[in-house]
Amino acid sequence: MKTFICEICGDAYLGEEKPKGCPFCGAREAFIKEGKDTDPIVNQKEEIGEVSIKNLKEALDLEKDAVAIYNCMAGKADTYEIKAMYKRLAKVEMEHVSIICKLLEIEKPEIDVEECNEDDVENFKGTVDLEDNAVNLYKKFTKEATEKNMKILFTALAQAEDDHIKLIKNYLN
Ligand SMILES: [Fe+2]
Ligand SMILES: [Fe+2]
Repeated sequence: MKTFICEICGDAYLGEEKPKGCPFCGAREAFIKEGKDTDPIVNQKEEIGEVSIKNLKEALDLEKDAVAIYNCMAGKADTYEIKAMYKRLAKVEMEHVSIICKLLEIEKPEIDVEECNEDDVENFKGTVDLEDNAVNLYKKFTKEATEKNMKILFTALAQAEDDHIKLIKNYLN
């Protein structure tokens, strides 16, 4: 076995082969490196400018909502598969909350309770809208960022949320 580390969230994956994506934050394969070669951005102390601070705070609100909504959807899901999928999505979004809080050097916030639909199909559609909004926002934040690490972070987040859309669209077909 080897130790692979995600350059975004800094978590270690232990296994024979490099995973296709980070199991914790959903960053794509390109962000996963063998242990000795990694310096995760979550641990780097780069000066963050005003615009990126504002954008990180907006991202934090979005991620917090996503955790709450996915927890609600997990509770309403018709099958164990969908329940487990939403529970995993909630954990991935919670990892995004953790990354952002570490970068902002703040405590992790309480997660509020959110409402969601009783119907799986409505919840799939709601998920696509939520993630689509996140992708667009993170693409904008990537462009606005002047810091190298913030560009990397928002790129990785936009891709991870885009991958969530692809996952959900399989259920809508
Ligand atoms: Fe990660
Ligand atoms: Fe997220």
